[in-house]
Amino acid sequence: MTKHLVKAELHLHIEGGAFPALVEKQAQKYNVDTSSFIKDGSYIWSDFTTFLHAYDQASMLFKTEEDYALLAETYLSSIAAEGAIYGEIIVSTDHGIAAGLSADAYIDGLIAGMEAAKAKTGIESRIMLSGVRHLGVDRVIAAAEYGAKRRHPWITGYNMAGEERNGRVADFARAFDIARDAGLGISIHAGELCGAFSVRDALDIVKPDRIGHGVRAIEDPELVARLADSGTVLEVCPGSNIALKVFPDFKSHPLRAFYEAGVKVTLNSDDPPFFHTTLGKEYEIAANEMGFDEAALNTMTRTAIEAAFVDEDTRAALMAKL
Ligand code: ADE
Ligand code: ZN
Repeated sequence: MTKHLVKAELHLHIEGGAFPALVEKQAQKYNVDTSSFIKDGSYIWSDFTTFLHAYDQASMLFKTEEDYALLAETYLSSIAAEGAIYGEIIVSTDHGIAAGLSADAYIDGLIAGMEAAKAKTGIESRIMLSGVRHLGVDRVIAAAEYGAKRRHPWITGYNMAGEERNGRVADFARAFDIARDAGLGISIHAGELCGAFSVRDALDIVKPDRIGHGVRAIEDPELVARLADSGTVLEVCPGSNIALKVFPDFKSHPLRAFYEAGVKVTLNSDDPPFFHTTLGKEYEIAANEMGFDEAALNTMTRTAIEAAFVDEDTRAALMAKL
């Protein structure tokens, strides 16, 4: 039982945190038919490409600042109810823009929701702005430039998500330079859909503080040792990896191997309703399917707070809650 444990999350795509019931409500509001991507209360998809399609369709139903405030407040309150004291949300202005919002309105809405969740539950949260890799280099750079320009104290990180099989990390290096120069913490999706080479590229070229997933680094023992030595934190999302068939089952998932090799690992839900998970379930899976005891789970939460993209006063306040 892990319900009572204090938790923290570093890797959640905000649109991927929209549970179908909320999306159905939005669909009623805008008179949109959801039958092509939701059936019997679940999202319909079969592989990464169709997952991304369902994700984009759900996103299109958040069309105003208020809609995004509702989404952020609902999601953050849900993990607070599972014991989370901190949640970092991955957001992409491209999704807001696709639904007709300006980048500023999209971010303002999210921040209003984050403030509301904090007022209601005490949960602290921050934004990682993200480029969407399959939209191309220019959009990924534009996302970094927006982060550098907007400079809100709760926008503290930069990431690149999307289709990892699109191009090589080097193509996107400039975006990370812009984000780093602006003082943003750096993470990157790597080693989820692509193999160890993608994690190696990320380390060589981007030098990230953290890596989203990174799990396919397990294919190269030298790379695992390098991750341990460098202290790069992995934002591991076991439920996502199994749902997307990165590994066949939880028994063959490498979280334990990374942990035992001294790699810093954290637990995250990625896009929870798409993968039939929640942050709380990820802790349950780690305990029940992967044999982690309470001390190990607490270590992962502590690692998440240590690696959170927050100012040092906030980090100290979060640490005091562990
Ligand atoms: N965008 C939303 N979820 C994602 C994932 N799991 N990998 C890459 N991009 C994403
Ligand atoms: Zn992700």
